[in-house]
Amino acid sequence: MSALNNQREQWGSRLGFILAAMGSAVGLGNIWRFSYVTGEMGGGAFLIIYLACILLIGLPILMAEFTIGKRAQKDVVGAFQDLAPGKPYVLAGFLGVASAFIILSFYGVIGGWSIHYFVQYLGGGPAVDAAGGYADYFGGFISQPLAPLFWQFLFMALTIGIVYSGVKKGIEKWNKILMPGLAVLVILLAGYSLTLGGAAEAMNFMFSPDWSAFGNPQVYLAAMGQAFFSLSLGMGALITYGSYLSQKEKLPGAAASVVTLDTVFALIAGIMIFPAVFAFGIDPADGPGLVFITLPGIFESLNFGIIFGLLFFFLLVAAAISSSVSLLEVATAYFMRRFAWSRQKAALIVGGLIFLIGVPSSLGNGILSGVTIAGNDILDSMDFLASNIFLPLGGMIIALFIGWGWKKADALDASDFGDTIWGNFWLYVLRYFAPLAIFIVFLNSIGLF
Ligand code: PHE
Ligand code: NA
Repeated sequence: MSALNNQREQWGSRLGFILAAMGSAVGLGNIWRFSYVTGEMGGGAFLIIYLACILLIGLPILMAEFTIGKRAQKDVVGAFQDLAPGKPYVLAGFLGVASAFIILSFYGVIGGWSIHYFVQYLGGGPAVDAAGGYADYFGGFISQPLAPLFWQFLFMALTIGIVYSGVKKGIEKWNKILMPGLAVLVILLAGYSLTLGGAAEAMNFMFSPDWSAFGNPQVYLAAMGQAFFSLSLGMGALITYGSYLSQKEKLPGAAASVVTLDTVFALIAGIMIFPAVFAFGIDPADGPGLVFITLPGIFESLNFGIIFGLLFFFLLVAAAISSSVSLLEVATAYFMRRFAWSRQKAALIVGGLIFLIGVPSSLGNGILSGVTIAGNDILDSMDFLASNIFLPLGGMIIALFIGWGWKKADALDASDFGDTIWGNFWLYVLRYFAPLAIFIVFLNSIGLF
């Protein structure tokens, strides 16, 4: 290792790294985004394509990111510049930093909503009027100009605070208690939700596909985007986290556990949301507000519901922060190296900038609701651009980089696969299958086939 590398931080333990990667993966994407996109895309068919994307594209590229990060011990731009000087692969690095800015800008808005709900439960639950119910409450809250911005600011301040304190102290410690807590609570709530009377309809919606949806290119694009978003993939979050690993860690097992946990989390969150959606007569295609409208209904119907609501939103905020921290870390690590800034300075400046970029996404639910792109409001448009385009594009370049930019023996060695069947299969997927699949989904979605 060079002298410079010696000054970079490292994870305290292998467990700390896996937990941090899991903390990055498990977040609002599993609960808020997964349920509303599944709802909008019609359920079953989307889910099958999503699972296929996870397994055939997501897992191999996740391994690729870990491999690159661990080998390069650099931020996402520096990694490509070091490993492939003068080659165009570095584009993935710049795309990654851009994606971090865009995703965190609107992630902070939803994170802010979550804090707002947490605080409401601190005070006994959101004050709804009987006629409008939780849908009106939600709509009324997000369309205000200032209140959502205040919570978004708080969410970003917490995120910045953790990145400010550094990898080991800030990022590693948190995940250990809070994530298992959220897992237990989501499982309990899923069990309860199944008793509300909408279980049959929900299972039908989630698990028996409407076959005609397989002919809809937008379902593929959305499923691929959700897979990348949920796994924190395609923008270097996991390159950056991998870069704090010492060279003796083994990667494939870590990759498989992150992917499994993230996916199981999303599925159970779906089983928590959809039975209640149908029991309460909510439209599954209701959009980004789905969990914020459905969950309070669950809590209201539950004994000690206020306590469950309080716990749930507390843990949701914690899960969201362990994801937002990884988003901010991508950009912070880049600015630290590129401009020789201290961690503290980079976290503050970059985090502050990202908050400002997120302001229009929040206002788009109220005073800026007239601003739309192809019928999508500002937040949805940011999300679409980053999740459905930038992340898969970044992932494609990452796959091509390992598949074609590295010597085969080198890639097998760096991945810890060695020259095994699995290793060779992995390289095959990165060389041909994954980039081609992503390319086809792109072309298909703009109507080229
Ligand atoms: N994976 C996170 C979630 O599901 C979001 C995220 C995306 C985090 C991209 C980092 C990078 O909430
Ligand atoms: Na996720």
